[in-house]
Amino acid sequence: MVMQGLFISFEGIDGAGKSTHISALADAFRTQGRAVTLSREPGGTPLAEKLRTLILNDAMDPLTEALLIFAARRDHLTTVIAPALARGEVVLCDRFTDATFAYQGAGRGFDLEVLSKLELWAQDVQGLGHDFVHELGKKGAAAAIVQPDLTVWFDLPPEEAAQRLAGARLPDKFEAQPVAFFRRVAQGYADRMRKDPGRFARINAARAREDVWREVAQVFSSKGWLP
Ligand code: TMP
Repeated sequence: MVMQGLFISFEGIDGAGKSTHISALADAFRTQGRAVTLSREPGGTPLAEKLRTLILNDAMDPLTEALLIFAARRDHLTTVIAPALARGEVVLCDRFTDATFAYQGAGRGFDLEVLSKLELWAQDVQGLGHDFVHELGKKGAAAAIVQPDLTVWFDLPPEEAAQRLAGARLPDKFEAQPVAFFRRVAQGYADRMRKDPGRFARINAARAREDVWREVAQVFSSKGWLP
């Protein structure tokens, strides 16, 4: 029997500490016998990883940046995420479209309506022939595009994130932004969550790693996905 695929994304400002929890969740799902696809955005395919290098390092105008991010996402979704979901796998993705609304939309002030249009185009996989599309159909019209089943938002005050990141490594284009930028990004995540509260789990990331993990694990067990 093919298990139902699960698509989970992880979000937060830079320095919020997602990575260790994503690996721990991958281990936990594998222990349950689930096949796990671990991925990230921008990236996750050879083409999207090339685009990631450009997006994170090269100066470009805001529409170019948004188009490249959605181009990378389209490639990732059609060649990795949708096929993995059709096989019944658990897809754990470090960032997805909420990051675009938070960083490009709220952070940079780019037009949210344009982002919504790009989201509809890039995340429509109907007609691509994945069995997974039938699952979308069962979820109703609101699910005409691919969205995560759950988005775990690691919420951390921007000042604390800046302290955690200080001196960590050479910052990329986004990590080099001032605290005020990350305040807007955090607000962008809050706005996205308000529009689709059932999809989000907000985690208070301003605590010791073990305490954060306990809350993350609790979210997954309350959904019946992990013991
Ligand atoms: P990462 O360092 O968590 O892998 O994320 C890469 C950077 O790209 C991070 O600073 C957030 C940024 N980003 C965007 O600006 N828009 C997006 O849509 C995504 C997915 C990431």
